[in-house]
Amino acid sequence: MANEVRGVIARAKGAPVEVTTVVVPAPAPGEALVRVQACGVCHTDLHYRDGGINDDFPFLLGHEAAGVVERVGDGVADVAPGDFVILNWRAVCGQCRACSRGEPWYCFSTFNAQQKMTLADGTALSPALGIGAFAELTLVAAGQCTKVDAAVPAQVAGLLGCGVMAGLGAALNTASVRRGETVAVIGCGGVGDAAILGASFAGARTVIAVDVDDRKLEWARGFGATHTVNAGTGDVVEAIRELTDGFGADVVIDAVGRVETFTQAFYARDLAGRVVLVGVPTPDMKLELPLIDVFGRGGSVKSSWYGDCLPSRDFPMLIDLHRQGRLPLDKFVSETIGLDDVEAAFDKMHRGEVLRSVVTF
Ligand SMILES: NC(=O)c1ccc[n+]([C@@H]2O[C@H](COP(=O)([O-])OP(=O)(O)OC[C@H]3O[C@@H](n4cnc5c(N)ncnc54)[C@H](O)[C@@H]3O)[C@@H](O)[C@H]2O)c1
Ligand SMILES: [Zn+2]
Ligand SMILES: [Zn+2]
Repeated sequence: MANEVRGVIARAKGAPVEVTTVVVPAPAPGEALVRVQACGVCHTDLHYRDGGINDDFPFLLGHEAAGVVERVGDGVADVAPGDFVILNWRAVCGQCRACSRGEPWYCFSTFNAQQKMTLADGTALSPALGIGAFAELTLVAAGQCTKVDAAVPAQVAGLLGCGVMAGLGAALNTASVRRGETVAVIGCGGVGDAAILGASFAGARTVIAVDVDDRKLEWARGFGATHTVNAGTGDVVEAIRELTDGFGADVVIDAVGRVETFTQAFYARDLAGRVVLVGVPTPDMKLELPLIDVFGRGGSVKSSWYGDCLPSRDFPMLIDLHRQGRLPLDKFVSETIGLDDVEAAFDKMHRGEVLRSVVTF
């Protein structure tokens, strides 16, 4: 039997989001129905609302969530009703060319629930990142549920479902930051601060936080930044070079995803250094770089999709580190809010007042 619950949808490009009735089907084979306990507001939800991802309106927003499995469809063995899970947008297929060569964190054939959640009039919803968790219940593929220790509050655990995992993974998985290295992170929102935390955790000697907002720079220090640079008041590339003996950083992570920040990242790294792009650009952005500089500076330029994480490997491990007091994930939660407050949370994100607003149920 289908369930009727409250959910936050984006009906049309740029229009304010609204809370409305969402119909959630019972789980079919391979699917899981999850009672959402917490879901963070990520910049990507705003990208969806503004039409920056695609035009498949209406969207059911929310994708950074944790909750408890309510029911599973036939053939689901890995999770069971009552399990506390973090939802992931990388249900690994096990069969595509990435999976078969042993790199499941790149899985090219991730999947979601087959059945559609709908509006009361039957209009199919597009769930953000195949999740749609600004709703009391959501329907996902069972592989999107990763069981973790239930002792961690849902508003903290859920953050690993997107932004915090993306940032931690950009430093730990994509850049493979090593002990003693110098790292700069451009953009200190939830994703950038998680990259700073990851770099610090990995033993980076120098961790430079770059943002246009002094309040964000202050918070970045709390996650392990050793130096800060306000991008609004000077030359970012020069500032990073000055803080790294004139050479540039071994690793520069762009957690904004704009042409100017990527260009800064490209030139602010040392010879043979690594650039990691974790911020998501919009389709209209075009990059122009002298090819001789791409060659001459050497090193690597990589994108970080979801922090190149493997949920089954990384979520339980990071939750353990948090429980041991070694990874202060709770510091990312600026406030807990209700379903009706998502639009206001977008405004606060815009004004730089929060790292993460988290909807709790
Ligand atoms: N790759 C992935 O898998 C993945 C996952 C989640 C989010 N993201 C993306 O990561 C990006 C950051 O997400 P977030 O949730 O941290 O957003 P956010 O809005 O909380 O943070 C962005 C930060 O960048 C700063 N900023 C803006 N322009 C800047 C500039 N020119 N120079 C320096 N700093 C600048 C802002 O002040 C803010 O602190 C977004 O593009 C989001 O879509 C990527
Ligand atoms: Zn695969
Ligand atoms: Zn996200």
